[in-house]
Amino acid sequence: MPHKFKRYTITAALPYANGPVHIGHLAGVYVPADIYVRYLRNTNKDVAFVCGSDEHGVAITLRARKEGVTPQQIVDKYHAIIKSSFEKLGISFDVYSRTSAKIHHETSSELFKNLYDNGEFEEKTSSQYYDDEAGQFLADRYIIGTCPNCSYDQAYGDQCERCGTSLSPDELINPKSALSGATPIKKETKHWFLPMQNYEPWLREYILEGHKEWKANVYGQCKSWLDTGLRSRAMTRDLDWGIPVPVAGAEGKVLYVWFDAPIGYISATKEWAERKGIDWEPYWKDEETRLIHFIGKDNIVFHCIIFPSILKADGDFVLPDNVPANEFLNLEGDKISTSRNWAVWLHEYLEELPGKEDVLRYVLCANAPETKDNDFTWKDFQARNNNELVAIYGNFVNRALVLTQKYFDGALPEVGELFDAEKEIISRLTVAPQKIAEALESFKFREALSEFMDLARAGNKYLADTEPWKLIKTDPERVKTILNLALQVAANLSLLGEPFLPNTSVKLKSILNFEGSGWEKVGSDDLLSAGHSIDKPELLFEKIEDEVIEKQIEKLEKTKLENEATNSKVAPVKEVINYDDFIKMDMRISTILDAEAVPKSKKLLKLTVDTGIDTRTILSGIAQHFSVEEVIGRQVCVLVNLAPRKMMGIESEGMILMAENSDGSLKFIAPPVAIDNGSTVS
Ligand code: 2FM
Ligand code: ZN
Repeated sequence: MPHKFKRYTITAALPYANGPVHIGHLAGVYVPADIYVRYLRNTNKDVAFVCGSDEHGVAITLRARKEGVTPQQIVDKYHAIIKSSFEKLGISFDVYSRTSAKIHHETSSELFKNLYDNGEFEEKTSSQYYDDEAGQFLADRYIIGTCPNCSYDQAYGDQCERCGTSLSPDELINPKSALSGATPIKKETKHWFLPMQNYEPWLREYILEGHKEWKANVYGQCKSWLDTGLRSRAMTRDLDWGIPVPVAGAEGKVLYVWFDAPIGYISATKEWAERKGIDWEPYWKDEETRLIHFIGKDNIVFHCIIFPSILKADGDFVLPDNVPANEFLNLEGDKISTSRNWAVWLHEYLEELPGKEDVLRYVLCANAPETKDNDFTWKDFQARNNNELVAIYGNFVNRALVLTQKYFDGALPEVGELFDAEKEIISRLTVAPQKIAEALESFKFREALSEFMDLARAGNKYLADTEPWKLIKTDPERVKTILNLALQVAANLSLLGEPFLPNTSVKLKSILNFEGSGWEKVGSDDLLSAGHSIDKPELLFEKIEDEVIEKQIEKLEKTKLENEATNSKVAPVKEVINYDDFIKMDMRISTILDAEAVPKSKKLLKLTVDTGIDTRTILSGIAQHFSVEEVIGRQVCVLVNLAPRKMMGIESEGMILMAENSDGSLKFIAPPVAIDNGSTVS
């Protein structure tokens, strides 16, 4: 359906300016977005490609506290690093803005005010944690306490980083303010909520009926959110960093970062349009505009459900026509993690492997996590460079150039009689552009790249089969035809490869002395005319030696060792308690009678336990360590007088005692031989 659109607004998720960009971000969002946009530009589409830094939210304020600087200093530092590294990789944003920009504050305030005036928000007062010493309300991340699930005493109010359980601050045991260390009190505060449930029927229509073509992972996640049922979401926060809520009675409050961040796309478009002296509005308000959001899978709900509801509530805007979200890229078998420094950082890559921008783009596209999580390994990086870029694309082009230089002094020879091999390569050349375009239009970037490489492979095979270096003695006329066609294929590759490998295309065009651009003429076997003179051959790609790769692997191994050293630190001793405190705990040997997974929870198992006193239900955060089969029938030690707590709607009556090894694995605390259930432990 793309042909019905007159212009394109393409957005790429605004990265948080609290750290640099890594290969996971690139493979998931920025490389595919850039390929798509370059393709659109090559086919003469009117495009606005917008992005910028996401500079609000608690993540930024926490980072600032950690580094002992102001949030502004944090965002200034990372905005500069991110912006420059994107530029160096050739991510061709029309504008890379930032959410601290004046235009963004104005745009977000205005949109909020519109919704407020239209009566779209519910105003609700609830009681939230407040730090009396610091004189401010506490965001969930600013409350630290003991995890009810694994007893880790540094769990955050939104999540326990030890066991991964999602928490609400009310679930924390012994909550403390991260600002002052004081025990927070509950205080009433007013917020503005978007009643998502009111948009549900419309969202069902818009997504489930209207966009069945969306990628299965995106459509599936939306369906699951809608089937679970939507609830009101607060669009404001009590925080001192962000965009002030522009209504009376909201002093000291800011817009929720996920309210303002996607509006950043609109503000960035305004900044770009102003710079160009054009009107921004058609890019967001004309129904002939196609709006596409490139994001990672963790952003699906915000871009497919919440942001469209905001746009719809305002009334004037076009809605996302597609949201081709990707899954995650892992690194050497492990989840990429900023806090564990388990990543290949773009700015470091650019410094350590200079001139290899296109290689990274190639590998990340060839291995993009389009339908499932994928793994980046340095060995694979090397293999793809050496066996694909060098051995196929580079080798083909180099042979065509060198032979033309050698036999015809760099002047393109004329085409003569066409044999089967010529007919075959011409036919491959004719169909390739369509195949690549079709794959790109359906957001199948890996497939598009593979079609592109297949054309280079066909060129390589054509030379290998016809062996012009042998024919030159016996049939020089045929060699003329072969090299003409090979160079026509090379010229086509320089155009078709531009979205994927822009630097290589520039280089190849310069060697070919070829001034063509765009995709209008791709597929033609007449891009270069006979007699056209080419430059001195140069290699498009260089082999990457083992040492280079080993250095990168060593760097990661060092990180791993550092992480292990940090993790293996024995937990510090807690404050002294007296015997009376200890004997308050009633621990009994029990047997797990039954176990089942808890729907929608990756961590929890629901256990039915015979404590010798009774049979009860206990939720335990061990699902990622043990299967149901492994735990049924086991004797364990249970804290039976722990106050019951509700998690995921299920009441848990007690706690299974576990020991955590330095590698994070869990072991049951259990008697070495079977004893009676109900036996006391002291
Ligand atoms: O997940 C993230 O990194 C967010 N900063 C993405 C924001 S996308 C958009 F809404 F701005
Ligand atoms: Zn925990």
